[in-house]
Amino acid sequence: MVFAGRMQLKDLVNPTVLSQPVYEPGKPIDEVARELGLDPAGIIKLASNENPYGPSPKAIAAARAALSHAELYPDGGCFALRQKLAKKWSLAPEQFSVGNGSNELLELIGHVFLRPGDEAVMGVPAFVVYKLVTLLFGAKAVEVPTRDFGHDLNAMKAAITPRTKLVFVASPNNPTGVANSSGEFLEFAESLPDHVILVFDEAYADFVADAPDVRPLIRKGRKIIALRTFSKVFGLASLRIGYAYSSAEIASLLGRVRQPFNVNSIAQAAAMGALEDDEFAARCVLENRAGLAQLEEGFKRLGLSCVPSTANFILVKVGLGTECFEALQRRGVIIRPVKSYGLAEWVRVTVGTRPQNDRVLAELGAWSSMSGAPGRISGRVNS
Ligand SMILES: Cc1ncc(COP(=O)(O)O)c(C=O)c1O
Repeated sequence: MVFAGRMQLKDLVNPTVLSQPVYEPGKPIDEVARELGLDPAGIIKLASNENPYGPSPKAIAAARAALSHAELYPDGGCFALRQKLAKKWSLAPEQFSVGNGSNELLELIGHVFLRPGDEAVMGVPAFVVYKLVTLLFGAKAVEVPTRDFGHDLNAMKAAITPRTKLVFVASPNNPTGVANSSGEFLEFAESLPDHVILVFDEAYADFVADAPDVRPLIRKGRKIIALRTFSKVFGLASLRIGYAYSSAEIASLLGRVRQPFNVNSIAQAAAMGALEDDEFAARCVLENRAGLAQLEEGFKRLGLSCVPSTANFILVKVGLGTECFEALQRRGVIIRPVKSYGLAEWVRVTVGTRPQNDRVLAELGAWSSMSGAPGRISGRVNS
């Protein structure tokens, strides 16, 4: 007998889910190879701001060792890692929350603080997950246009209402790569009203020489949650591990809404290993700086505008961003179209190794001369 249900599935679904926008990640190499019939070995991915030098050998060794005890559940409280982080940052272990990537921490922040009717202030364009999390909890995303590709902190402050719960600021911002100055940011952080929690996303702060230090403000009792990730300079994106530091009270609230074993033991071990290798991270930061200079010079040579970046990626104006992305992808070079961020004329390129950067520049040069490179004509930002 066939069960002729009258209730449609969509009538059962939480309506917020039906209208929830979906995150579009950079395509994995194997998927591109499958779709386009390419050899994966010849493909480079400069689309998701990963570390082209991989993880530190110390992180790999620690992950390998942890794998041999994969039969055991991980330490859900990430005790050893939080001890290590506390030492690194001169804070108490109770002030740290560890997540399955900093993305999970963003979601946990939503769980703790957002309800329908609340508002969250964020830049636009800015990392889209702020908006996704806000909408997921039925709150309103108040998007404040960036100024010169950086967060317009005065306008963000002006957008705060009595309903505002969260303000999200990434510095450097993604997808633009622009950082607010430390002085400007700290003044903003200190000036926020008491009913607002500042989520300060430091995903790319390791690449910046003078990133703001919010610890004194946290010590003074300011409601700030700083987010860090092991996905970028530490090269552990696939293991999904990031952390937050805040007051111990906020950390304890975040701890209430996480799953018991949200961070696996291999990721925890790798993160501990990565923290043992400051030298590796410092070398990656230097290589990134050289790579940014290489790309900026290359874009200039090609007559393409770019937005000077302090992160491990850079926006370049190519005219038809999606077409450019598709053309390069057919050639085995994956970059990121940013039309969904309202930047249809641009693409975002992650800084790769020197040969990877040469390759993306060569492909961009070939594409822009074939397509007439509308990006060459106006809007040069780096001239
Ligand atoms: C600004 C920003 N924040 C957070 C994340 C999330 O990082 P993860 O979840 O890998 O820690 C990203 C990832 O690209 C990002 O660009």
